[in-house]
Amino acid sequence: MTRLNRFLLAGAAMLLAAPSVGQAEDYKVGLLLPYSGVYAALGQEIDDGFMLALKERGGEIADAQIEVVREDTEVKPPVGLSKARKLILQDEIDVMVGIVSSGVLGAIRDFVHQSGTPLIVANAGNDDATGARCSAYITRQSFSNGQVNRPMGPWMFENGIKTVYTLAPDYAAGHQMIDNFKAAFEEAGGKVVGQEFTPFQTTKDFGPYLTKAKAAGPDAIFVFYAGGEAISFVKQYASFGLSEEVPLYGSGFLTSPLYVNAEGPAAEGVIAGLHYIPTLDTPENKAFVEAYTRDHGKAPSEYAVQGYDAGQALVEAIKSGATDKEALAAALSKVSFTSPRGPVEIDPATNNIVQNIYVFETVAGSDGLTQKLLGTVEAVRDPVNGCAM
Ligand code: BEZ
Repeated sequence: MTRLNRFLLAGAAMLLAAPSVGQAEDYKVGLLLPYSGVYAALGQEIDDGFMLALKERGGEIADAQIEVVREDTEVKPPVGLSKARKLILQDEIDVMVGIVSSGVLGAIRDFVHQSGTPLIVANAGNDDATGARCSAYITRQSFSNGQVNRPMGPWMFENGIKTVYTLAPDYAAGHQMIDNFKAAFEEAGGKVVGQEFTPFQTTKDFGPYLTKAKAAGPDAIFVFYAGGEAISFVKQYASFGLSEEVPLYGSGFLTSPLYVNAEGPAAEGVIAGLHYIPTLDTPENKAFVEAYTRDHGKAPSEYAVQGYDAGQALVEAIKSGATDKEALAAALSKVSFTSPRGPVEIDPATNNIVQNIYVFETVAGSDGLTQKLLGTVEAVRDPVNGCAM
């Protein structure tokens, strides 16, 4: 039996019982994540974070039976859409949680909206889903692509970087992350002197792109890559000899704690912005890191905290007394709590999360690579971006 099949069986069979504070209810949750493809590890980590929240907080929801059904998007928009249809029409889920790729989120948005099924986005940063294509049924417990990248523009300019070359995969998230960074960096006074988008999921050799980037002579290179692509990119950047010549900056997914140790010394010195690092010194984060590490033998990443907070949001919505899809969607757009990442709330104007963004450097620690906090931009909120709820 493959790892994925074991997963799906375990998921289908899982029922979490919780003690009573009111009437008995059953909630069916569809976890729609990549369990294969370049973002498979991200999907697993989100799943693990979500299940940890249900384990820790399941006792707070009255007589609620939560059944979890899992489906694999394979990081492919058409597959994601057919799995979303299956979860909603055939499995009759009450709420959907997940989605890692902005491309998949773009593909399922209309179907989810028209079906009136609440969706808690646990990764995909697609700006449109909480902008021009926002929905009363879609709330985000992760980040938007603009939110994570805008703060890095002024931060880099103020820290002496005047010219930048950018690289990212050629799909919705790559374009949105770079467009938002570029606008903020140039507004601060910097100049993007060149950019390239690499074929998504198929680029194995970044050499030709690195040659062009170096030839442009920028003060720094800023990139978005995640998962398997991030590991290949960071390693090739160092083996190409660029680390000594041009500093590497990025969207923090580049050096996620999930795979930074697979990148190895090549990741040392990379500076990036993200909504969570496991080294945050707060009681909520310490408790989360301890519980996650106890269960999984490694520190959690941003993907784990997104799954965990999606679980926390669901518990909060159920606790508020929501028993149908309409009420769950309404309650999910009102949740706020202190997450391991800091205070979080849902912006009523967009249904996007409002949260801190942390600038951090990857440094060598006593037990492998770790994240050194350099700065915090508090309560970052997206512009409305054409959202009319
Ligand atoms: C996205 O497609 O939105 C995405 C994927 C991986 C990490 C961050 C964002």
